[in-house]
Amino acid sequence: MPQPDRSAPPSLRLGLVGAGGIGEVHADAARRAGWSLEVVCDADRSRAEALAERHGGRVVADLDALLDEEGVDAVAIATPNATHRPLAEAALAAGRHVLLEKPAGMNAAECDRLAEAEASSGRILQIGLVCRHTPVAAEVARIVESGRLGTVYQARANLHRRRGIPGLGGWFTDKSMSGGGPLIDLGVHVIDLVLHVLAQPRVLRASGVTYATFGRDIGSYVHQEMWGGPPRPGGVFDVEDHASALLRLEGGATFEMNVAWAANLVDGAVRDGIVLLGDRAGLFFEPLGNSVRIATEEDGRLLDVQPVLETEDGGQAAWRRQYETFAAAIRGEGPRVAPVGECRRTQAAIDAIYRSAEAGCEVEVDA
Ligand SMILES: NC(=O)c1ccc[n+]([C@@H]2O[C@H](COP(=O)([O-])OP(=O)(O)OC[C@H]3O[C@@H](n4cnc5c(N)ncnc54)[C@H](O)[C@@H]3O)[C@@H](O)[C@H]2O)c1
Repeated sequence: MPQPDRSAPPSLRLGLVGAGGIGEVHADAARRAGWSLEVVCDADRSRAEALAERHGGRVVADLDALLDEEGVDAVAIATPNATHRPLAEAALAAGRHVLLEKPAGMNAAECDRLAEAEASSGRILQIGLVCRHTPVAAEVARIVESGRLGTVYQARANLHRRRGIPGLGGWFTDKSMSGGGPLIDLGVHVIDLVLHVLAQPRVLRASGVTYATFGRDIGSYVHQEMWGGPPRPGGVFDVEDHASALLRLEGGATFEMNVAWAANLVDGAVRDGIVLLGDRAGLFFEPLGNSVRIATEEDGRLLDVQPVLETEDGGQAAWRRQYETFAAAIRGEGPRVAPVGECRRTQAAIDAIYRSAEAGCEVEVDA
C-alpha cells in the first residue's frame, strides 16, 4: 500500500518523460501547481531541449538516466500509450511516485499489472484523467450523491470532431502503439468521468460498433489543423476513427456514448458533453467546461437551474488541480484520485466495446 511521503519537500520535484504535445501542458500545469520541473527526457532529444528551454529542467537521455538523477520525487509519463506500462513500472520500481497519462494501459490486463507494480512499490500511481479535476466534475458528483437527480437511469456522452484524427499515420493511428482510435483516446475520458460522477458503478455488458472511414486514405485526408503533427503518407492507420456504444451498468442504468475523431457532422447538430437523466432531475455539462445546467421541476412547474461555479477556465483549473491532488496524495494530505484500480473499470469497458464491435453482438465486461 502507498505510504504518505512525510519527507517530501515543500515544492515537489518532477521528472517529465515525453516532451510532445501534452508534455508541454504537464510542464506548465506542474509549475502552476507549485512543482519544480527538474529533469526532462524524450526519445527525440531536441523536443526535450526545446521544452527545457521554455520551462526549465535538465535534459537527460532516457528514463533510466532520469531515474539516476537525485532529487526527483515523482515522474510524469506523457508518451505513446504502448510505453505507459513499462515506463510506469520502471519508475515505481525505482521508488518514484508516478502521474501516468491516460489511458493507464493498452487493456485491462495491463492495468492489473500496473496495480501490482504500485502495490509492491509503496508509491502512488495516479492516472492522468484530467477531466475528473474540474470544479464542475466535483459539483456533478455532489449533485448525484445528494440524490437531487433521483435515480439516474441513463448517461449519455458525445465527443465529436469534424476532422481531428491526431497525427494521422503516426503512433496515434497505429494500433500496436495506441491500442485503438478515439475510443481509447477520447472515450477513456468520458467513460471514466461518467463512472466517476456516478460513484463507480460496475459495467456489466457492452454493445459497440466502430468505423474506420476518414483515415484510411492518409494522402487524401482533408483537414484544417492537426494535433500530433501533419499526416504521414505511407504511415499506419489500422484503428477506428469513430466508436459508438451502449453500456449496461449495475442497477439497470445505461450509458450511451459516441466518440469520433472525424465525422461529417453539421456544426451544432449534436451538442458535445455529458448528459445524466434522472427521474427527479437531469443535467448537462462539458468535460472541461465550468458550468452545469440542471433540468428539474418544482411546485408543479418545469425549472432550469444553473449553479454559480468558479469562473476559472475549466481546463486550466483541471490541469493545475491534477498536480495539486497528486501532491496532496503523495504527502498523505488528501485522497487518492484516479487510482489505477478505478481506471481498470473504464479500460475493461473499452476492451469489451472493441470485442463487441468485432463480434457484432453484446458482450460481457470483464469487470
Ligand atoms: N490528458 C489529455 O487530455 C491528453 C491529451 C493528449 C494526449 N494525451 C496522452 O498523452 C500521451 C502523449 O500524447 P501526445 O499528444 O503528447 O503525443 P506526442 O506524439 O505529441 O508526444 C509523445 C512524445 O513521447 C516521446 N516518446 C516516445 N517514446 C518515448 C520513450 N520511450 N521515452 C521518452 N519519450 C518517448 C516522443 O518522442 C514524443 O515527443 C498519450 O498517451 C496520449 O493519450 C492526453
